Amino acid sequence: MRIGILGCGAIARNHVAALRATAGVEVFAVADTVPRRAHAFAAEYGIPHAYADAEPMLARGLDAVTVCTPHGAHEAGVLAAARHGVHVLCEKPIALDVAQANRMIAAAGAAGIRLGVIFQRRFWPAAARIRAAIDDGRLGPPICGGVVARFNRDADYYAEPWRGSRATEGGGVLMTQAIHHIDLLQWYMGRARRVTGRCATLVHQGLIDVEDTAGALVEFASGAIATVQAGTTFRPGRGARVWVADAAGRVAGVTEFPEGVGSAGPVPEGSGDLPLAAVHEHLAPFHAMQVADFVAALREDREPAVTGRDAVRSLEIVEAVYTSSRTGTTVVLE
Ligand SMILES: NC(=O)c1ccc[n+]([C@@H]2O[C@H](COP(=O)([O-])OP(=O)(O)OC[C@H]3O[C@@H](n4cnc5c(N)ncnc54)[C@H](O)[C@@H]3O)[C@@H](O)[C@H]2O)c1
Repeated sequence: MRIGILGCGAIARNHVAALRATAGVEVFAVADTVPRRAHAFAAEYGIPHAYADAEPMLARGLDAVTVCTPHGAHEAGVLAAARHGVHVLCEKPIALDVAQANRMIAAAGAAGIRLGVIFQRRFWPAAARIRAAIDDGRLGPPICGGVVARFNRDADYYAEPWRGSRATEGGGVLMTQAIHHIDLLQWYMGRARRVTGRCATLVHQGLIDVEDTAGALVEFASGAIATVQAGTTFRPGRGARVWVADAAGRVAGVTEFPEGVGSAGPVPEGSGDLPLAAVHEHLAPFHAMQVADFVAALREDREPAVTGRDAVRSLEIVEAVYTSSRTGTTVVLE
């Protein structure tokens, strides 16, 4: 199976490793709008073809492409793949906003291609066990839950021009970091119905035009209630926790500490800060599991573990927090 990679930045390195760990897959081509990045990446990894655009790469007759571009370019990448009839695995968040995401899902459906979205924290054993416990009844349907995500991001991180900008990143800590944990929360709790939230830029003013601090109340279709607290202002970062509880009072949770490492334990005190390359290295095995699932889904002609429709759910919550914060109202999701 010939697979291409669109966008040759930090996370694309995980994609190369994951694809190469999957039997029968060849990383056939890469493309990046900065051509020297595409060529350097291809040379470093011994990838046969490098392009400056998605179109010529997709025209080479790929079976699938993975989209590793900044958020604002996800839609164009997925629509291009759909035009070429090429299956696509897109990085999180699926898009800048729900309208874009819905266009991507519709285009994939019309073209008959599979659309998967990376949320590799679902493959942490501690996270998967909670979903399995709900499925087999050891944990009842959650009636309450929450996300606490306390990360550290600084000027070096935001030096990459697309980061920290509403136009190209779509949001801040909710859109880029806590969306992983919000995805887990809604995976356990079901469809969100009403969202009340507040966002602010309290530390990184002048550096970013998106939120570094957010709080939200999320009410689910089931009647369950959860809270979300997230920030990129913690020095050092303190990791993250997602928890749910059922009507019998049983509690289950997954901890991320240090960043990139998932476990069932409580959040320890102490520095959780690792260089981002090390965070990505910790996440690599779970990235690989999701990539392997995507390839298996193509071979077995089934949906991947996380579809476009699954991925839009966390984005709906994030977008609703932004709308609620802007308007001072509670947002009701359809
Ligand atoms: N799953 C995870 O844990 C995880 C971790 C980090 C990043 N990500 C996601 O991966 C994506 C990329 O993040 P990153 O940190 O690798 O970014 P990055 O800035 O390191 O790399 C992005 C690359 O895309 C290229 N690019 C920009 N626009 C393009 C276009 N239209 N076509 C082709 N290439 C284009 C850039 O030149 C750059 O080389 C984002 O969606 C991000 O949220 C996911």
